Amino acid sequence: MIYPYGMKKIIRVWDLPIRLFHWLLAVCILISFITVKIGGNAMEIHARVGYCVLALIIFRICWGLMGSYHARFINFVPSPQSLFSYVLGKSQGGIGHNPLGALSVIALISSVGVQAVTGLFANDDISFEGPFAKYVSNSTVSLLTSIHHFNEYVLLILIALHLCAILYYYKFKGEDLVKPMIVGDKEIDPSKEAKNLPADLGLASKDGGLQRGLALLLLSLIAAVLGYLITA
Ligand code: HEM
Ligand code: HEM
Repeated sequence: MIYPYGMKKIIRVWDLPIRLFHWLLAVCILISFITVKIGGNAMEIHARVGYCVLALIIFRICWGLMGSYHARFINFVPSPQSLFSYVLGKSQGGIGHNPLGALSVIALISSVGVQAVTGLFANDDISFEGPFAKYVSNSTVSLLTSIHHFNEYVLLILIALHLCAILYYYKFKGEDLVKPMIVGDKEIDPSKEAKNLPADLGLASKDGGLQRGLALLLLSLIAAVLGYLITA
């Protein structure tokens, strides 16, 4: 297809499963921080949203292996060379996560994952403990609880960096990253971008009924297994 000069080409970058994953994750993390500050009975809610987060993270890891083009790790996790060349300004990012952004994505997914897993074993020394604490020794519980505490700060720093980076792109690079994470599409000017992004132009993320159905099935399966293990 030929695009006349100035005409934008619209490309699906973030499929619906990624977008839902992202915004549900953000809401759940917010609720888990609020509930832990309230304490008491709110710890029940803290645990429940924590299970949701765990299911979301496991889903995201699976989707990073089998999801749509820009969701797959192999298409955005940078090699050291591509990272350096991006940081030194010698190459441009593609249409998905740029090499530096990809690192922050990996860090966020890891830190959130560690938080949700250690939570399963954590104990507040008062009346609440994670459902798996009973399977391990007291010293393991206290170790995992300290990781849960320490990682709180790691997570807060990563979230702050995440938001600052998005603001930086908006203010200084004139790029709105948030809209694509909501609607899924990025607009590119093929007459300009074709120079930098030959590989990206044809590679939209598939986001049809089949992919969405598969994602729903996958998430349901993960939730069912997790629910079974947690209540066992
Ligand atoms: C999204 C995942 C989670 C986040 C972001 C999160 C965050 C936090 C934070 C910020 C604290 C407070 C630490 C402090 O007092 O300084 C905390 C405490 C705690 N969390 Fe989580 N948590 C998550 C998942 C879970 C899960 C799944 C469970 C258990 C089912 C859990 C159980 C606990 C317990 C028992 C404490 C109390 C520790 C204490 O007060 O000594 N958390 N969590
Ligand atoms: C607790 C809060 C948040 C967490 C844990 C979080 C986590 C993440 C993760 C894991 C990704 C990677 C998406 C993927 O490929 O799976 C991501 C991307 C993104 N997030 Fe967040 N996020 C949070 C809050 C926010 C907020 C409040 C905004 C909007 C203001 C936002 C905007 C974005 C955008 C625009 C991207 C795509 C960046 C890009 O184009 O490479 N996030 N976030």
